[in-house]
Amino acid sequence: MSTAIVLVESLTGNTWKAGEKIAANLQQAGWGVSSVCSVRQPELAALERADLVLLGSWTDGIFVAAQRPGGAGHLWAMPSIAGKRAAAFCTYALNPGKVPAKMSTILESKGASVLGGLALHRKKLDQHASEYVERLLGSLATA
Ligand SMILES: Cc1cc2nc3c(=O)[nH]c(=O)nc-3n(C[C@H](O)[C@H](O)[C@H](O)COP(=O)(O)O)c2cc1C
Repeated sequence: MSTAIVLVESLTGNTWKAGEKIAANLQQAGWGVSSVCSVRQPELAALERADLVLLGSWTDGIFVAAQRPGGAGHLWAMPSIAGKRAAAFCTYALNPGKVPAKMSTILESKGASVLGGLALHRKKLDQHASEYVERLLGSLATA
């Protein structure tokens, strides 16, 4: 069975919820999800074994401008995931700007082969989590 791990940076819980919903969608599609854990203290054994690493954070900025990944210092501090597939997601309130792309750059710098990222509106987590996983599985199938 292919296994994923979800690493999360969250201030008020939306991104945790998103990570858990994404994990549930992956499990429904037959994936194992070893852990949904904080990017600040990733479960290293689970990370080592994972085939797919998902990195989630929130959108920081001034709501319609200057968006950047929340807790970027913690994201940059995550361990190397050389050779693994990875994808980013962020939650947002109004406008995520280029946060998924900025997070993808972090994943690339960690040695991952990066699949497209997605922003999930904080009020539409169910719908957007299922769309995210559908797209992800589509890009894994064609990668
Ligand atoms: C300081 C701060 C800045 C934010 N800036 C933006 C922003 O620029 N654009 C946006 O769409 N949402 C912005 N948000 C909203 C959060 O990204 C959104 O509520 C997110 O879901 C929070 O995730 P969390 O609950 O995991 O911390 C901001 C929130 C905070 C606290």
